[in-house]
Amino acid sequence: MSEHWWRDAVIYQVYPRSFADADGDGMGDLEGIRSRIPYLAALGVDAIWLSPFYASPQRDAGYDVADYRAIDPRFGDLGDFDRMLADAHAAGIRLIVDLVPNHTSSDHEWFQAALAAAPGSPERERYHFRDVTDPEVPPNNWQSIFGGPAWTKTDDGAQWYLHLFDSSQPDLNWDNPEVHEEFKSVLRFWLDRGVDGFRIDVAHGMVKAPGLPDTGGDGTIEMIGTTQAPFFDQDGVHDIYRTWRPIIEEYEGDRIFVAEAWTDSAERRSLYLRPDELHQAFNFDLVLAPFRAVDFRKAIDSEIANNAGVGAPCTWVLSNHDVQRHVTRYGGGERGLARAKAATQLLLSLPGVVYVYQGEELGLDEVLDLPAEVRQDPSFHRTGGEQIGRDGCRVPLPWAKEGVSLGFGPAGEPWLPQPAAWSDLSVEAEDGVPGSTLEFYRQAIATRKGHKATGLTWLADPGEDAFAFDNGALVAVVNFGDEPVPVAGYGTEVLLASADLADGHLPGGAAVWFAK
Ligand code: NOJ
Repeated sequence: MSEHWWRDAVIYQVYPRSFADADGDGMGDLEGIRSRIPYLAALGVDAIWLSPFYASPQRDAGYDVADYRAIDPRFGDLGDFDRMLADAHAAGIRLIVDLVPNHTSSDHEWFQAALAAAPGSPERERYHFRDVTDPEVPPNNWQSIFGGPAWTKTDDGAQWYLHLFDSSQPDLNWDNPEVHEEFKSVLRFWLDRGVDGFRIDVAHGMVKAPGLPDTGGDGTIEMIGTTQAPFFDQDGVHDIYRTWRPIIEEYEGDRIFVAEAWTDSAERRSLYLRPDELHQAFNFDLVLAPFRAVDFRKAIDSEIANNAGVGAPCTWVLSNHDVQRHVTRYGGGERGLARAKAATQLLLSLPGVVYVYQGEELGLDEVLDLPAEVRQDPSFHRTGGEQIGRDGCRVPLPWAKEGVSLGFGPAGEPWLPQPAAWSDLSVEAEDGVPGSTLEFYRQAIATRKGHKATGLTWLADPGEDAFAFDNGALVAVVNFGDEPVPVAGYGTEVLLASADLADGHLPGGAAVWFAK
């Protein structure tokens, strides 16, 4: 066990809308999560990261917060939150909540007050309002990450306001001290309630370049990307985190901040992890990397080197609620699932922290054929379907083989339809079944616990598209290619293999751990 739990934890992302529905309204809730804590304990995770559950009109699935101190009635109330947190803690599981400081919902009382107040008023100073000079020409060329312009006019046509995401998500003005004070108070509200940390949404946003200059090109920026922009990864954002770190340090229990920070390099990302800033930052390089040894090795080396420079743990992730599930990214079907398991086993043997996105432990794939009328992602609607959006990775979990929502809830259609084939991927179908993806995850996480990586030394490659390394506790071999590679020289005692070895060979799209 390392000195700090968050340096080598396995953290499970719960997306509240889609995890478990206790009240039968077709949408997940906090009581549903509470009821499934024994499942998470059996999986062996150290902590939960919970996506937003705050009061919200749900125009971006809760990343549009109307009240940072209230629970959305769809998910429950503060009493439900406290009970869920208490049960998680009793099971030895920590809880990290999502904080959304770049923007509020347009329903937030601050934005409503801003609309009701006059241009130039203190109420409007909490956001980015600009006078309309030409109704056809916004103040700059910035485009919303969800498509369309990043500026919308107030109803009277007198001013524009900035929204990097949906028009219902106005950006806060972090040059305003009032905004700083409010978020410090929100941090304390949840810390006082006992949360173990915060995942910071768009942690590379908030601070905009002075004068809001045009971006290069046509102003289009992807959320999942590494392009530089005058509204992302500005140096000033680090000053905010330097004021937050002392607050979290005041509280007992080794609590943490994890950053969602899309930067143009691992080096820029590591700046968020300096000792007086944040604790972890997701490494999205493996989300973007093709399933090839050369690409994975490059991303791994770069993360290890840069994070060592600031003394921070590597933070590995393959899937989350914003990206296509990795089974599907790797080609889908049996081959995609085999590769996904190999990649997960690889992650679990790297030094650092691993995030698991709900449902990947069941081998769930992306739901590609959701009809347009059920899709809810604003990016789908703002681009007229050109961006397919993220609904396909947000489909409610199958817990049972049968039933209207495959055990997701006691009644009612789920908010997004589940594929019938998910009956075979349900918890009920996989629980206790040797060879199932669920049992593989349980075994992999348990084996990792007894074999915590202390570093990484590359060993000779077993094949062209394969690599091997010693992590101080075990030897791992991963085969990214399609042909089997010889692995007999790396060890004799197999601790875990994502696919059966034959004649001393590891099949294509598979990983194995050997005892040292
Ligand atoms: C990143 C979140 O993960 C995503 O779901 C959300 O749409 C944007 N930030 C805006 O809050």
